[in-house]
Amino acid sequence: MRYPKEVVLKDKTEAIIRPLEKTDEPKLLEFYAAIPEKDRWYMRHDVMEPAVVRMMIKAVGRGNVFSTLATVDDDIVAHASLLMRGFGSTRHVGRLRITVLPEYRHKRLGTWVLLDLIQVAMDRGLNDIRADFVIGIEDAAIEAAHKLDFFKVAVIPGYAKSPRGTRYDLQIMVKRLHRTWSDF
Ligand SMILES: CC(C)(COP(=O)(O)OP(=O)(O)OC[C@H]1O[C@@H](n2cnc3c(N)ncnc32)[C@H](O)[C@@H]1OP(=O)(O)O)[C@@H](O)C(=O)NCCC(=O)NCCS
Repeated sequence: MRYPKEVVLKDKTEAIIRPLEKTDEPKLLEFYAAIPEKDRWYMRHDVMEPAVVRMMIKAVGRGNVFSTLATVDDDIVAHASLLMRGFGSTRHVGRLRITVLPEYRHKRLGTWVLLDLIQVAMDRGLNDIRADFVIGIEDAAIEAAHKLDFFKVAVIPGYAKSPRGTRYDLQIMVKRLHRTWSDF
């Protein structure tokens, strides 16, 4: 059984990685309420909206999204999703989103959560994982992705716009998945 998965962070804190469950809604709302606005404006959905969190919960068990949580003492400290199309020319591609609670950053939690989702993507037979990052804002995530062999495939100049109207370049990164190490 893959889950729950216990990971030890740099400061020796023990965290558990497990799939999101329908009963997690109140705690997920609490988690996103603790994420600062500067980490939220570039997300695809307004995670402060209870309807958005409800949508994430409703997606549990559906084929096109797989979400995981990391918890410490039953509190959510990270949420991540692998989004899949299931149809069409990009059905072999998964897309990733990860958010770690600010006080749990730089402790390797993001890396553990990412590694787990990469394994899920491989198990589901995906070939590539794509992640888009706002340059100058998500630089920590770009660095973390680099370390896990994501590479830059494109930059769309000025594609992202902040609430203040400042434009930022969007960097598209892809990681190729190999079924076994011997495929390298
Ligand atoms: C990006 C994010 C998920 C990283 O999570 P994390 O738990 O802090 O990541 P880790 O501790 O595993 O760090 C992994 C690597 O990322 C890099 N990194 C992390 N934080 C960094 C920072 N502030 N600046 C530069 N590099 C950073 C480092 O290379 C680090 O490796 P190291 O510990 O060996 O030095 C987290 O910062 C976050 O939630 N940010 C806001 C939301 C976001 O940007 N999500 C990404 C969308 S996919």
